[in-house]
Amino acid sequence: MNAAPTIDAVREAASVLRDRFDTTAPRVAVVLGSGLGGLVRAVSNPQRVPYSEVPGFPPTTVVGHSGEFVLGTVEHVPVILQAGRFHLYEGHDPSVVTLPVRLFSELGVEVLVVTNAAGGLQPTFRPPALMLIADHINLMWRNPLTGPVLNGEPRWPDMYDLYDGELRGHARAVARDHGIPLHEGVYLGLLGPSYETPAEIRMLQRMGADAVGMSTVPEVIVARARGIRVLGISSITNVGAGLFQGVLDHAEVLEAGRALAADLEILVRGVVKEIGVRS
Ligand code: HPA
Repeated sequence: MNAAPTIDAVREAASVLRDRFDTTAPRVAVVLGSGLGGLVRAVSNPQRVPYSEVPGFPPTTVVGHSGEFVLGTVEHVPVILQAGRFHLYEGHDPSVVTLPVRLFSELGVEVLVVTNAAGGLQPTFRPPALMLIADHINLMWRNPLTGPVLNGEPRWPDMYDLYDGELRGHARAVARDHGIPLHEGVYLGLLGPSYETPAEIRMLQRMGADAVGMSTVPEVIVARARGIRVLGISSITNVGAGLFQGVLDHAEVLEAGRALAADLEILVRGVVKEIGVRS
């Protein structure tokens, strides 16, 4: 595992980004999941900074995750996009995985939109499909808040209404207005990187999960500790192992993610617009 960044490292990264971007501070941050990089299209006047130019950021190692920040506006609201995320399964320390969220918080971000690719556990989910995350189950056996408390963060943050009820309401309304089918359910995070066995999928279904993936949970926990409101959307790219005949393949996950990009863009645009109107 690589070393945990300190709060000074987070501040240094934030000051580098502030100097590089000549726009106002972002209000909304969007994390792009596997195959969802097309959302960058939604940004007007994009300015890009690769991770290699931000102190403390290792390169990403996953195909489909490019590794840059894109700052600009969506529906006249200043936003920052994170194209390329860090996963625990790459061997990163949880504090590296959540470094972007702490950086967003230093930049003054109020709302975090997290997207991811996930396997569907509900027989009614027919991939490719979108699922609004209503809650999560952390089975990654890691928590990004272990260790010394970083300043401003509570030791024991509450996890009630973690996926903000009001933002979910906005997302449902946008989906309804545009005729976009939108499921809603519980996302369960596993460490990965192996996909699940059919026996594990049956177990996860009984635990109350509707979708399973290998990301998101650490970022959302840190967002809550930092007082950032969260909207989470899963792209259900496949059904869980054993619920179909065949093998799971990352290329298919990416492809299914791309098929959902247009609907996801409409959803994110609509929610960001609503955030802009209400403030
Ligand atoms: N399992 C875990 N993570 C995933 C899956 C899956 O089936 N699909 C996309 N990410």
